[in-house]
Amino acid sequence: MISFILNDREYSTELPAGAVTLDLLRGEAGLSGTKEGCREGDCGACTVLLGTPLAQGIKYMAVNSCILPVGELSGRHLVTIEGVNLEKELSPIQQIFVEEGASQCGFCTPGLIMSLTGYLLGTVDPDDIGAADALAGNICRCTGYVSIRKAGKAVSLKIGYSPAECCSSSKHLEWLVEKEILPPYFLGIENMLKTMDAAEPDASESSASGKTVTVAGGTDLFALEAEELTNTDLRFLSRETEMNGITTQENRVLIGAGATVRDILDSEVFYNLGNLEPSLQLIASAGVRNRATVGGNIVNASPIGDLTIIFLALDAKLRISKGSDYREVQLKDFFSDYKVLDLSPDELLEGLEYTAPDFDTFINFEKVAMRKHLDIASVNSAASFIVKYNRIKKADISAGGVAPIPLYLEKTCDILTGNIISTGTARLAADTACDEISPIDDIRGSAVYKKLLLRRLILSHFIELFPHQIDLEDLL
Ligand SMILES: Cc1cc2nc3c(=O)[nH]c(=O)nc-3n(C[C@H](O)[C@H](O)[C@H](O)COP(=O)(O)OP(=O)(O)OC[C@H]3O[C@@H](n4cnc5c(N)ncnc54)[C@H](O)[C@@H]3O)c2cc1C
Ligand code: FES
Ligand code: FES
Repeated sequence: MISFILNDREYSTELPAGAVTLDLLRGEAGLSGTKEGCREGDCGACTVLLGTPLAQGIKYMAVNSCILPVGELSGRHLVTIEGVNLEKELSPIQQIFVEEGASQCGFCTPGLIMSLTGYLLGTVDPDDIGAADALAGNICRCTGYVSIRKAGKAVSLKIGYSPAECCSSSKHLEWLVEKEILPPYFLGIENMLKTMDAAEPDASESSASGKTVTVAGGTDLFALEAEELTNTDLRFLSRETEMNGITTQENRVLIGAGATVRDILDSEVFYNLGNLEPSLQLIASAGVRNRATVGGNIVNASPIGDLTIIFLALDAKLRISKGSDYREVQLKDFFSDYKVLDLSPDELLEGLEYTAPDFDTFINFEKVAMRKHLDIASVNSAASFIVKYNRIKKADISAGGVAPIPLYLEKTCDILTGNIISTGTARLAADTACDEISPIDDIRGSAVYKKLLLRRLILSHFIELFPHQIDLEDLL
């Protein structure tokens, strides 16, 4: 039995922990306002809010219910479009959608409203750029995005700044209720969660297979194998809060495997790290970023995993546990072939660490995908250079989409050490990287195209990081 709060009341279900929340809502709970589109986290039609109780307050996030297992709901607050309706009138967000002509057939509209509500819950200073980003994972097939973006901008302008210091505080909720973005019942949810009896989802109840699958954010697992997972034993890492931290110890940065892309974006650790912060905004959509974890990205072993490519260039070291035993392995030695990892089924990736970049470190990430938002890369690459007196002391460069594994470009890194930053060095890096890879033709492009892309991305690292030392005309 899994118990949680669904909109304004307590709800319990006998569905297995691996069932999908979208099916619970539209089937068992009869709440058909949440729409079913792709069932792969790609269209945003099924967006809901998930509220997780903290020591003080509740942290709400927009998430895709089609890739959210029911086991994740236990002891939390699940909000659907029905749960943000006011009693007699449209909420200001709904009203603005009408005024801006941002809804035609209306199929995508509940998802858009929930994404925007999630954005307002997650920020104290909303603006049009943040609103547009929050809506980037919602696909609309008939209205057109200009009026939807205008609605997002109008909402953020109309609501203004929250008087609260932090978005999980009760003051922020009170302000959203006052502005009628949320109905008043939200103010009683924290107490309801404290008093409700929500046992942790018991994996052994859900299957007799004996096999337990680790679920971190579930954005890979449930996008690809939701049906197979319905009756499998699941271990939910989001409940193991000691794995979610992002901290620094002396000159090392430590990131728990359960930290999400959103956690990284919210932490100060990634500030001033070249273009990494805006680049992380290009990973999937807000709904997926709110759940997708570092550990999931690495263990999934996709040759184009964006986080993996970034952490390869930070020369990260992984911490792996088996019961109470621990071992460490460099991320660049973790992958040996397509989806073949140095991780046995009974081991857990606990987290990773890397040396905090200082003023001599220059970092850049580049990604080419078929579309800018909500797409995985055709080819991606990250680079980190330690430069002293214009000379490269250490280079770490990675490349995705050009090999069966996320690749650390060993030869390119070696050959660059000791070179001065110059147009010739940039060319040497691009030439060596292209010699070092052997991509294949696939749906994301031909081998020739991918080589060409990587060449351009390696040159881009130098152009972006050292604009005054690189002669563009000579280079291109
Ligand atoms: C619509 C959509 C868009 C996406 N866009 C991008 C994108 O732009 N860039 C990108 O890189 N990815 C993208 N992804 C892929 C995915 O979101 C990321 O790879 C994400 O980081 C996976 O993390 P997760 O926590 O959801 O993994 P999960 O799905 O929970 O797990 C993935 C695998 O890792 C295992 N696992 C997870 N954590 C651990 C651990 N700590 N120890 C051992 N095993 C573990 C799981 O058992 C599973 O086998 C996208 C996915 C979707 C659905
Ligand atoms: S149905 Fe498309 S994201 Fe969930
Ligand atoms: S209004 Fe029809 S799909 Fe968006």
